[in-house]
Amino acid sequence: MRVLGIETSCDETGVALVDTAPWEAGEPAGKGLLGQALYSQIAMHVDYGGVVPELASRDHIKRVIPLINQTLKESKTSLSEIDAIAFTQGPGLAGALLVGASIAKGLALSLNKPVLGVHHLEGHLLSPLLANEANIQFPFVALLVSGGHTQLMDVKSVGEYTILGETLDDAAGEAFDKTAKLLGLSYPGGPAVSKLAETGNPATYQLPRPMKHSGDLDFSFAGLKTSVLTQVKKLKAQSDEPFEEQKANLARGFVDAIVEVLVSKSIGALKQTGYNTLVVAGGVGANTQLRKGLETACQQAGCAVHYPPLELCTDNGAMIAFAGAMRLKKNPQLAQKDWGFNVRPRWPLDQLE
Ligand code: KG4
Ligand code: ZN
Repeated sequence: MRVLGIETSCDETGVALVDTAPWEAGEPAGKGLLGQALYSQIAMHVDYGGVVPELASRDHIKRVIPLINQTLKESKTSLSEIDAIAFTQGPGLAGALLVGASIAKGLALSLNKPVLGVHHLEGHLLSPLLANEANIQFPFVALLVSGGHTQLMDVKSVGEYTILGETLDDAAGEAFDKTAKLLGLSYPGGPAVSKLAETGNPATYQLPRPMKHSGDLDFSFAGLKTSVLTQVKKLKAQSDEPFEEQKANLARGFVDAIVEVLVSKSIGALKQTGYNTLVVAGGVGANTQLRKGLETACQQAGCAVHYPPLELCTDNGAMIAFAGAMRLKKNPQLAQKDWGFNVRPRWPLDQLE
């Protein structure tokens, strides 16, 4: 079965084609990715310090058809050979989601093929299974850390997800992006803060570890960002020089704090569920310090930790095509010829049906 995936929930237009046939033959799932194409709008939003929804929608309209053509060419597949189309139905920016929904539904209608709306976070959380050389097995704990979400999930199988804990305010990626802004780094700030932190001294700033000992698996990062703001204000009150000197130390203080909380709660989730596999997904999953921290802690806890390949950590079409294919494989009745548009900008992952 060949599934075309279309992702347009935020500032990346992603398209990919996956084939489930190799998995049925018992081969690694990674071989099922026939082709993919991605366009990132980051450069367009950089001057605004964040994503401008209207600009994002208009750009998706411009990019999506050329990317579909590019994917089909790379996959050596014609439109008529596609068996189903999957698109990101939510959560995300309403206008941006509508672009993906309309192209997916329009294409499916013209080809008379089934179409399936996929939850963006399900795409992220199943993405480590796409290149599944490690042969990850259900059940596992998933740590979803993106620009809009921070959640620990109990993943029993495809489509069976329970939220174990989540952020009460800012998402981890959002905290990275806001801290980057405070430190004068450009959007999206995650990679920039991470890089700057590498040269910082861990002993200079001991920032709070919010909710580390809260006894549950929830997070809160708004206070951590505020404590960075307080330090920035103190430094700037003197002159620009101390701020410039201390920037890397402050970045290091922030990264150490956020990583410590994410690691500690992930281990807590493994203990609570009794599972021995952790899967990390979402943009912040690309973070080097987080990967190092999880690697060490999971080793000590006798658990395994898995990530998607770096290029699949941030938004892409492959994860949507793959999640769509996994869902259809499990429940072929989901392949419907329904041409109505119903995007879901807000959509909890434990309310899939
Ligand atoms: O999953 P994603 O591409 O989009 C959403 O669904 O939100 O995640 C984007 C987020 C941004 O906040 C970005 O700053 C963060 O992931 N990010 C990182 C890194 N790479 C991306 N944060 C920390 N370290 C990184 N290396
Ligand atoms: Zn995402």
